[in-house]
Amino acid sequence: MIASQPPPQGAFDIYGPGHKGLRMAHANLLIRLGAADLDDPRALRGLLNHMREHLDLCVEHMRHEEVVVHAILAGHAPGAAVEIEDMHRAHLANLPELLGLIGELEAATPAQLRKAGRALYLAFSRFVAADLIQMAHEEEELLPLLHALFDDAELVAMTTRIVLSMTPEVGAGMLRMIIPAARHRERLSLLRAVKTAAQQDVFEALLREVVRPSLADREWRRLADDLRAAPASDVRAA
Ligand SMILES: [Fe+2]
Repeated sequence: MIASQPPPQGAFDIYGPGHKGLRMAHANLLIRLGAADLDDPRALRGLLNHMREHLDLCVEHMRHEEVVVHAILAGHAPGAAVEIEDMHRAHLANLPELLGLIGELEAATPAQLRKAGRALYLAFSRFVAADLIQMAHEEEELLPLLHALFDDAELVAMTTRIVLSMTPEVGAGMLRMIIPAARHRERLSLLRAVKTAAQQDVFEALLREVVRPSLADREWRRLADDLRAAPASDVRAA
């Protein structure tokens, strides 16, 4: 935090759940890629399609931060997001290489599989490493500034704007990543923001088709009970 920064107004963790979801998905995919049976074309195709979907969500995530959070921040602290946007740009510049390597592995002959698999695994490990660093930077440098400038209602409103800007497919993909990676209270805060932003039938479909299958029975029952009963004013993550 900057020394002259005023005391915090807010405590809502606008980054936490999304970043935890990305970290979990990064780790799972890297492990799956390292352990994949390259001689099983069907399994490999499924994994590579999942990687493409994951990379699309990574791009969406950075776009949401820039279009909503950084745009609002620019009106209060001009230049505060410049460094992180440079990190986003450097990170996005690696995507063509990654997508090219996914294509090469997909098209590899049996003799080329091992080399192509190794090249993709190492390139994705570098992508994950860079993303871990830039997400930590956002949480350690930018989040304290957001907490100093905005109260919880304003921070929740940013999350709601992000949720409203998502297509149903992107929203479902994000929730599928986030829900298993988050703590109970983070799930609750996020889903309350989604509930505010989404139509009731869309919200119920997300609960049924995305949230429920992501959780053990006990976790799901606790979440469903608290979503029905908890006061909407409690937005602070655990
Ligand atoms: Fe981020």
